[in-house]
Amino acid sequence: MEALETMKTRRSVRAFESRKPGQELIDKVIEAGLYAPSGMGMQTAIVVEITDKAVRDRLSEINGEIMGTKSDPFYGAPVVLAVLARKESPNHVYDGALMMGNLLNAAHAVGLGSCWINRARETFEREDGKKMLAEWGVGGDYEGIGFCILGYAQREGKTAPRKDGRVFYVG
Ligand SMILES: Cc1cc2nc3c(=O)[nH]c(=O)nc-3n(C[C@H](O)[C@H](O)[C@H](O)COP(=O)(O)O)c2cc1C
Repeated sequence: MEALETMKTRRSVRAFESRKPGQELIDKVIEAGLYAPSGMGMQTAIVVEITDKAVRDRLSEINGEIMGTKSDPFYGAPVVLAVLARKESPNHVYDGALMMGNLLNAAHAVGLGSCWINRARETFEREDGKKMLAEWGVGGDYEGIGFCILGYAQREGKTAPRKDGRVFYVG
């Protein structure tokens, strides 16, 4: 899909089929994330691909606990991309957010549904979250930025009208 059209037509998906997308498709999404700009080119953001159902379900449970709900905050998506960023740079949160943006747009470009799911920071501040990171081989001082859930959309999201007054022209 043409880039501008992709950015305009991407919407958050909150209903997914249970079948997993192929690894080659997920890899394309991840690769786009790695090419996001970063402050001073420091590339502080990292991505952890989770396709294992037990791990995905545990992350969903933790997210629900933080949010105070028993429903699945990942809306049944079979794949979760956890984005974290190394705190060594004052730009790390911006870096991670841009990686998230690339992942979301790339998912749409390859025909997958996605949505940014919050509470990554709280998840990886918890002892059980930190233990998961250690098990995954992620060592160092990282902050959770967001979860990009991925899969085949069962239902597409709707486009809200754009708010007026958000663009100013000078000159
Ligand atoms: C920082 C951020 C956090 C978000 N957290 C959640 C979330 O936890 N759960 C959710 O369903 N959607 C979440 N979203 C998705 C937004 O609700 C969605 O982007 C917004 O409603 C606009 O819709 P669109 O993505 O279809 O354009 C988040 C989006 C952003 C940018």
